[in-house]
Amino acid sequence: MSTTPDLTFRSLIERYNSDPAYKNFYNQILQRYKKLPPCERRPYYKEVMMGAHDWCIVRIFWTPEGKTRPHKHGGSNTRIHVLQGTLEQDLFAVWDEGCELLERCIYLEGEEFSEDPETVHRIGNASPFDWAVSLHLFEPPLEKMEVFDFTYNERWTVKGGEDTMGDPPKDALPIWSSLARLDPA
Ligand SMILES: [Fe+2]
Repeated sequence: MSTTPDLTFRSLIERYNSDPAYKNFYNQILQRYKKLPPCERRPYYKEVMMGAHDWCIVRIFWTPEGKTRPHKHGGSNTRIHVLQGTLEQDLFAVWDEGCELLERCIYLEGEEFSEDPETVHRIGNASPFDWAVSLHLFEPPLEKMEVFDFTYNERWTVKGGEDTMGDPPKDALPIWSSLARLDPA
């Protein structure tokens, strides 16, 4: 991991923890997501904050019990910091005919963990009641992601790491873009 993205990642976490205005900015975004109509609700809302050709930082707002699909990164290492709430990561062993849950790990507010690029995993909000917020450093940025559906034993590749189930509704973005002056991105 090069120094610059890690320092940027640290500075964003530090700012969140020490600058009440910046924390309040996150809470304003969170309130916007909470008010979305049912048809626009997602398990999580993923926003690319900043980056370069070899890294990017993403923040994710997790609905209660919101989870990604099981997936594997295309060679991208990920570091995750829990800014608010509690996250969980499930690790799977996968073979042609099925899968097995190997381990479930819980990460509390302030804790960090990594996603191995070759491990099939699913991460999400461990709480059925509270929202969660996390910061993700990808090195390099996700170019492709392999996604798994264990119910039907299917897998497919998503270009650019874009699993659309986590995209904020496009027409809702201008609602909170006016808050962006507080964002260093
Ligand atoms: Fe992941």
